[in-house]
Amino acid sequence: MDRIRKKERFRFSAFAGGARFKRAAINTAILVVLSVALAVVVRFATLNDENVADAVLRGEPSLQIVVLSLIIGVIMSTLIAYTFYVKRDADRHVTGKLVPVMSVAVFITFLLALVFGTTVSLYVSPLALCSLLVAILVDKRVGIVTNILLSQMFFLTYILVYGSEKAVESSAALVTSMVASIFMIMFLDKAHNRIKFTVAGFVVGICTAVVPMLINYLVDANDVSQILLSGLWSFVSIVLSVALFMIVLPLMEYLFRLNTPFRLAELCSLENPLLKKLANEAPGTFNHSMVVGNLAELCADAIGENTQLAKVCAYYHDVGKTKNAQYFIENQKGYNPHDDVIPEVSVAMIVSHVTEGYRMLKKERLPDEVADTALQHHGTTPVNFFLYKAQNFTEDNLDKKEFSYPGPKPRTKIAAIIMITDTVEAASRALSEKINSPTAFRKLVHDMIAQKAGMDQFSECPITYKDLAVIEDTLVQAIPSMYHARIQYNNNPRQDKDA
Ligand SMILES: [Fe+2]
Ligand SMILES: [Fe+2]
Repeated sequence: MDRIRKKERFRFSAFAGGARFKRAAINTAILVVLSVALAVVVRFATLNDENVADAVLRGEPSLQIVVLSLIIGVIMSTLIAYTFYVKRDADRHVTGKLVPVMSVAVFITFLLALVFGTTVSLYVSPLALCSLLVAILVDKRVGIVTNILLSQMFFLTYILVYGSEKAVESSAALVTSMVASIFMIMFLDKAHNRIKFTVAGFVVGICTAVVPMLINYLVDANDVSQILLSGLWSFVSIVLSVALFMIVLPLMEYLFRLNTPFRLAELCSLENPLLKKLANEAPGTFNHSMVVGNLAELCADAIGENTQLAKVCAYYHDVGKTKNAQYFIENQKGYNPHDDVIPEVSVAMIVSHVTEGYRMLKKERLPDEVADTALQHHGTTPVNFFLYKAQNFTEDNLDKKEFSYPGPKPRTKIAAIIMITDTVEAASRALSEKINSPTAFRKLVHDMIAQKAGMDQFSECPITYKDLAVIEDTLVQAIPSMYHARIQYNNNPRQDKDA
């Protein structure tokens, strides 16, 4: 038996090692292609029509492309290494997509910066776009470092190609871009919707326009038109960055199935087609999901997790119930279809809501965390009611696995929160008439969490005993106020003495 386990472990680690090697190879290939592509674009964009053919024949561009690729490659590798260093504790959703996300952000920004920088003015290069994308999709600290490195890379290649007469203009644009980007990244926290963020862009654009004006004043105080023009173009650059950010961000959210505060705020809207479908086809489940959403938000806040993400995960966790809504007690109006089928069929109908929900959420391209939480929110727990019902029909010992959810167990703290709030909400609703004291209610919540822990459901997520205690306290305080009409404590002081 031990030998079989060892073999399985070896096969698993070999598989994991192979997958890691494959991902590293893909990431390296992306970096090489990106570096060469940027170098090619920079080199050919700066050759005019007459000398392209001559330069190609002389082999001049190819040598310069190799050198430019190396410079860009070193800068990009440093940026990626720093990103992995900062995000080493992040979950696999983020780390698995770091290189493609950052490469796409850098490539788009570099191209646009080159187009606007060469056709309008160097000050208009919308370099803040990349740092904003990286800050919101990857990490704010990485966003700031990306901005510094990308700006250096862009203006360095620009000087290499155009010569040092552009050095002052490049330096002024570089400083302005860095200052504006850092302020914009700080505003990302404050402005939770796209309109507020656009307004913030205008404010930052006006304020930072002073920077190139001061630099140009130092260069030549008499050249008033150049001073004013640098300020104007710098303002345009920030507004352009924000406008492009609003266009590119939804595309990247969709392409990489990533969550951002903007995306999560939109998914909370009851106008979302999936939530509308849930409300129409499974109204009982819809109400349950809304209550779980409020509880999950409070619990996430209490243990320092992303409250918006917890709320969205809760709203969509049972969306798979729309397929056979009448098989779930909260949607039944008198008739119970389980009375007409054997327990094995009942269990199959019930457990399928996690896989069905996962499939629906993936199809609609919701963020991966939301789909994964829908799959994990029951872990590998058994559907006891139908297990016991089936056991009544046979004397053989039934296989518990066949009456259990397929898993996996919760892999994140938020998935664990959804598992707990889901169970506690349903139990509080069902047992509210029988709970007559805060002590009894605390015992109910405590037992439900302990039961899940006893079934080893939290062994694959980083949740701690301290987190579980905080979640218990949060639920004990929050739920009675939500069900105040039903959970009516008996005010007998002797009963409450332990509360
Ligand atoms: Fe569920
Ligand atoms: Fe649920």
